[in-house]
Amino acid sequence: MNPVDHSTGQHGRIDFAAVLGQVHEEVAPLVGQGKVASYIPRLADVPANRFGMAAATLDGRLFTIGDADERFSIQSISKVFTLTLALEALGGDLWKRVGREPSGSAFNSLVQLENEKGIPRNPLINAGAHVVADVILSSSRNARDDLLAFVRERADNPDIIMDAEVASSERDAGFRNTALANFIRSFGNLDNPVDRVLDFYFHQCALQMSCADLARAFVYLANRGHCQRSGKPVISAERAKRINALMLTCGTYDAAGEFAFRVGLPAKSGVGGGIVAIVPNVLTLAVWSPALDDKGNSLAGAAALERFSALTGLSIF
Ligand code: DON
Repeated sequence: MNPVDHSTGQHGRIDFAAVLGQVHEEVAPLVGQGKVASYIPRLADVPANRFGMAAATLDGRLFTIGDADERFSIQSISKVFTLTLALEALGGDLWKRVGREPSGSAFNSLVQLENEKGIPRNPLINAGAHVVADVILSSSRNARDDLLAFVRERADNPDIIMDAEVASSERDAGFRNTALANFIRSFGNLDNPVDRVLDFYFHQCALQMSCADLARAFVYLANRGHCQRSGKPVISAERAKRINALMLTCGTYDAAGEFAFRVGLPAKSGVGGGIVAIVPNVLTLAVWSPALDDKGNSLAGAAALERFSALTGLSIF
């Protein structure tokens, strides 16, 4: 394998298939370590011993290893898609309703909202995603369909669905999200009824995608906002830069500092065990292994991204 040539910035000679093979081998002992999320009852049934990884390059190649074609619940990874749509709908005014600072707290924490008067710290924690969901509901006649269409187009896969059973399983056990949304609404920072906001939020989290789907779907963020296939803009290059910045600082919650230290890439995790990472101007990575560390990030997935970055020399730093 040829690591990145830093003198020329050349990535063309890296054998990504070989790198993924080596990463898979190295992290195999970690697969299954940690805990599969069970607070959403439907997720608890997912076997812990799965591992898949995909890389989609900006020249249109896709590399996969392990269970990269198996679909799983993307959960919080969906917050990047909805942030994209909300920014397109509301532009910079979104930032009057949600902050841009790392929370340093758990993804479902209530504590900062009281002091900060119902303005969530960032759009990638649950509270921030509720406000983002509210913005989409206000700007779209059918928010679920619009999100699904956006994700299918980005992934180039018309078969992507939202799993209704996962969504209702989360709704039935969703006391904390219900508390968060009601709290935000009490500060006047939700325009739509709490039930509608939560219904949309639980369905966005219930999107089922594979690593291959996710790697393809996130290419616009590695490609200065542009679709790789058509070359057309999905969002502006500046907006893509901002979303990457938020992923770096907030995408893995209270582990974001440690994640930046270990991996050095903008990333977004979900409690389904998926993590997406962006190497701007080069490629996207998606990894899945359902057992989580104590911050709610895939344990083997984070290790795989760390090894990928170390083996290739690819990071934003
Ligand atoms: O709201 C929740 O708790 C889940 N639907 C999503 C949380 C999540 O994925 C956090 N990620 N690490």
